[in-house]
Amino acid sequence: MPLPKAELHLHIEGTLEPELAFALAARNGITLPYADTEELRRAYSFSDLQSFLDLYYALMAVLRTEDDFADLADAYLARAAEQGVRHAEIFFDPQAHTARGVPLGTVVQGLTRALARAEERYGISTRLIMCFLRDQSAESALETFEAARPYFDRISGIGLDSAEVGNPPAKFREVYRRAAEAGLRRVAHAGEEGPAGYITEALDVLGVERIDHGLRCLEDADLVDRLVREQIPLTLCPLSNVRLRCIDTLADHPLRTMLAAGLLVTVNSDDPAYFGGYVDDNFRAVEAALDLDPETLRLLAANSFRASFLDDERHALLLAEVAAYEFGRTVA
Ligand code: HPA
Ligand code: ZN
Repeated sequence: MPLPKAELHLHIEGTLEPELAFALAARNGITLPYADTEELRRAYSFSDLQSFLDLYYALMAVLRTEDDFADLADAYLARAAEQGVRHAEIFFDPQAHTARGVPLGTVVQGLTRALARAEERYGISTRLIMCFLRDQSAESALETFEAARPYFDRISGIGLDSAEVGNPPAKFREVYRRAAEAGLRRVAHAGEEGPAGYITEALDVLGVERIDHGLRCLEDADLVDRLVREQIPLTLCPLSNVRLRCIDTLADHPLRTMLAAGLLVTVNSDDPAYFGGYVDDNFRAVEAALDLDPETLRLLAANSFRASFLDDERHALLLAEVAAYEFGRTVA
């Protein structure tokens, strides 16, 4: 069994594997502009975040019915279980679906149908986090937020994703204010391609409890001090950073520097179908590229639970699993 861990930065739409994309296309009578899965896989060569987002949004065309969303989430959970995931906080992008005429209820009901069975089937507890597309208007985010109110019993929090540069956190001040008022948890992507100042702004203006990516915090020493002092979790995604060219190679990843600085960092997969690996694949990749020892991997796993929105009881149970894990017993 791989090391037990939580996955805290995972876009469910980013788990759409080429095989499932073609299967759903056939089921829904949609023709994809690729001959087969091989040709589609060859399109997974990205120069930056936007070049990835273009394909990510285009492929979502195959997701139409409640069953499609349930099958997508179930396929992820099955893969996640094999990767040692015991808790998953899962992002979804409602605006990417409602803009195509898919009702919000179809998306939420499909996803939550799969999530409701996750603990029993796969031993994975889950939370659902609704993300707003930051390259859409603040009004659109507010409309989406209000439309989602009937589902707040199934949505734990809100996030902010899509094209970062030029779309600063403060644009979404009001929707984050309403989320806090509604008792929802708050996270946001910041400092992936955007500057360190966006991380500060997400903390100060949006009141986020966790930063997704946060890589560029290293450009601001005062910000690093603050993130360490306040133990604000950062959800790093190493394979994503290489594929989207935020860094050149995994050997250049600042994970070790960040751990040494005392930052509460976690390792996650972001969009595993597109970036070449699920969460344990990310753990193994950084282990190899940065020569991490078992106790550092154990620390990263423990951090994933500390940074989660788990209740105290399951948090303690899963931390105990990490502490008791024996390395070197994994059968390849
Ligand atoms: N960054 C921003 N938006 C996203 C990402 C990402 O890595 N993945 C899916 N939407
Ligand atoms: Zn992301």
